[in-house]
Amino acid sequence: MSKAALASLSEAALRGKRVFVRVDFNVPVKSGAVGDDTRIRGAIPTIKQVLAAGASCVLASHLGRPKGEVKEELRMAPVAERLRSLLPRVTVIAVRDVVGPEAQAAAAALQPGQVLLLENLRFEPGETKNDPGLARALADFGEVFVQDAFGTCHRAHASTAGVPAVMKPAVAGLLLEKEIRAFHLVMDAPERPLMAVIGGAKVSDKILVLQHLVSKVDALLIGGGMAYTFLKAMGETIGASLCEDDRLDTAREIIAAAAARGVPLLLPNDHVCADRFAADAATQVSEGGVPEGWLGLDLGPKSRAAYAEKLKEARTVVWNGPMGVFEMKPFAAGTLAVAHALSASDCASVVGGGDSVAAVMQAGVADRITHVSTGGGAFLEMLEGREMPGIAALDDAV
Ligand code: 3PG
Repeated sequence: MSKAALASLSEAALRGKRVFVRVDFNVPVKSGAVGDDTRIRGAIPTIKQVLAAGASCVLASHLGRPKGEVKEELRMAPVAERLRSLLPRVTVIAVRDVVGPEAQAAAAALQPGQVLLLENLRFEPGETKNDPGLARALADFGEVFVQDAFGTCHRAHASTAGVPAVMKPAVAGLLLEKEIRAFHLVMDAPERPLMAVIGGAKVSDKILVLQHLVSKVDALLIGGGMAYTFLKAMGETIGASLCEDDRLDTAREIIAAAAARGVPLLLPNDHVCADRFAADAATQVSEGGVPEGWLGLDLGPKSRAAYAEKLKEARTVVWNGPMGVFEMKPFAAGTLAVAHALSASDCASVVGGGDSVAAVMQAGVADRITHVSTGGGAFLEMLEGREMPGIAALDDAV
């Protein structure tokens, strides 16, 4: 999953240095304003620690997928504005290039206690190609590399893999350490029973996660569109529900692996069904299968109760993926039921992925969850048990 022990920001000598911090400020921006700023807030402890140690801080992030071109709507200016409001006593300088003359001049003039935010890293074509020239140019901005962009550690890009290879020391920031600690809690030495709740539209997106988890957990609860591929594989009628016919064998293999280990695998046995994929569709609850021509779009009330009941037995839970079409109100109850079940329990819980995190926020229970991850794709790769390039590139603890 990751190295046993990483060199830590807390042990790095920082006084008087310029510290380069890779952050994940890939946040939603609409009409020039930042929406959910959780990822920006997540990096604040690291930034404060760097500044408090008498260093200056050069921050670098990507925003969206501009594919190596400058896109006005993906500039970092709105992020800089939010950062200033979160750090009201700190000078935050934002530049409009990544490694060009404006950025270099601003870095040269940066004083201890100040923050410089570079322009969107992905405006540079070399970023996603892990170009060594770009990595060296970025490395010139600082004397210590800090990786705090957990959400981007699964990418082998110039700023995540290239820079820490040439800029030493290369250490983990406080957010990255927190994310890794949460995974150790779940995957390495969990208090048992350990249960995983996995949802989302497609089995194909989660095959590796399911295969990895089925060998680790004491129960696997499956929901969302992917549940219907499993149900069809078991011979259930699924009506017009989403199904990946080319993944039926994969589903059967996972069912067999769970059975071989004696791991209960929960699938919905009642459904909120719709006559079409729309928030204003006609709906009905069906039991034991989905009627011909209907789509199963959420856990039915009995499944919601059964999943909540099962989760009461858990001492540790990891959750990724919605139990239904969470973004449409009539099909959000299953996902919210899992959020409420976790909040009602005193088990250790780790939640990651857009809709599951949104459900936890919407239900107002984030403070009852042990760890809400800032990772999307990175969270999944951790659940797959993979080593991530952005973590592998960091120094080992001495
Ligand atoms: C994310 O939002 O998951 C990270 O910021 C990575 O973004 P990416 O999927 O565009 O690489």
